[in-house]
Amino acid sequence: MLVLGIESSCDETAAALMESTAEGGYRLLSSVVSTQIPLHRLYGGVIPELASRNHITALPGVLREALERAGRGVHEVDAFAGTAGPGLVAALLVGNTAAKALALAARKPFVAVNHLEGHMLSPFITRPGGVPPHLGLVVSGGHSLLVDVRSSSDYALLGRSADDAAGEAFDKIAKMLGLPYPGGPEIDRLAESGDPERFAFPRPMLHESHLNFSFSGLKTAVLYTLPKLVPSGDPHDLDAQTLADVCAGVRAAITEVLVRKTLRAAKQTRRRVVAVSGGVSCNAGLRRALQAACERARLELVLPPPSLTTDNAAMIAFAGLLRAEAGAYSPLETPVDPNLKLGGSQARV
Ligand code: KG4
Ligand code: ZN
Repeated sequence: MLVLGIESSCDETAAALMESTAEGGYRLLSSVVSTQIPLHRLYGGVIPELASRNHITALPGVLREALERAGRGVHEVDAFAGTAGPGLVAALLVGNTAAKALALAARKPFVAVNHLEGHMLSPFITRPGGVPPHLGLVVSGGHSLLVDVRSSSDYALLGRSADDAAGEAFDKIAKMLGLPYPGGPEIDRLAESGDPERFAFPRPMLHESHLNFSFSGLKTAVLYTLPKLVPSGDPHDLDAQTLADVCAGVRAAITEVLVRKTLRAAKQTRRRVVAVSGGVSCNAGLRRALQAACERARLELVLPPPSLTTDNAAMIAFAGLLRAEAGAYSPLETPVDPNLKLGGSQARV
């Protein structure tokens, strides 16, 4: 079965083709992402109106390239998958409507895919053997979720962020530090040359037994620390080493909370496989800490390749393919939902 997936929930326009093989495996044939980051960087964050306008202009070229790289024609596609939410509503509508239009024209089924389910399953796109029962940590710009995944369509939410998501915390703190959008990769890069112990930033909810997160206190701690470091109030006056040390301290705080809670969740659920996904799973410090902690606990850690951590359509095509194989198609009337929850309202037929 060959599935074309389209993603446009935020500031990446993406299309990908993925197929199931005769041996029961999966093959990613192409994954094309056109990013709008340079455009939104001018404004310090994503401007929804600009995002949707740019999805409209970028999508035809992205679709053509995805089909060309895969060496397939639209008529060969068995099902079309489109992100149904969560995300920016007008941005979602572009890719979602395109997937429905293609399905209608080609007389093939449509599959509505939850963006978070796409992230959650993305570590298994390139790992042979499908999706085993595992403990999933999804850390993106909008969400921090711990999920007990029994199968690709059967999972339970164990914990979530009570306030800012991990990526959101990185981005907001980076903004305070005068770093460009998106701040997560900037903090990650600068942290490499910083001392993570110079600033003892809080580890919220670390010792509480539940599996929820909170990152807004960390933001406040940085806010109160900055005036002591730069009397001028301008973060650009921070000396390079102090900036690197603040970044290392922030990364260490977020990493420690994520790693400790993930390991605790794996222990509680007795899962032996841990999969981590979403834009923040690209973080070098987090990847190293997870690797070390999982090795110590003798857990298998599955991480997506860096290109599949931030928004992409390979994850939408993969989640769509798994649903299509199960016959879980969606009516063309299925609405987009900017607040779609994991395991939420995608209609199934
Ligand atoms: O999954 P994603 O592309 O979009 C959402 O679904 O939200 O995640 C984007 C988030 C942004 O907050 C970005 O700063 C963060 O992922 N991010 C990182 C890194 N790369 C991307 N955060 C920390 N370290 C990174 N290397
Ligand atoms: Zn995402």
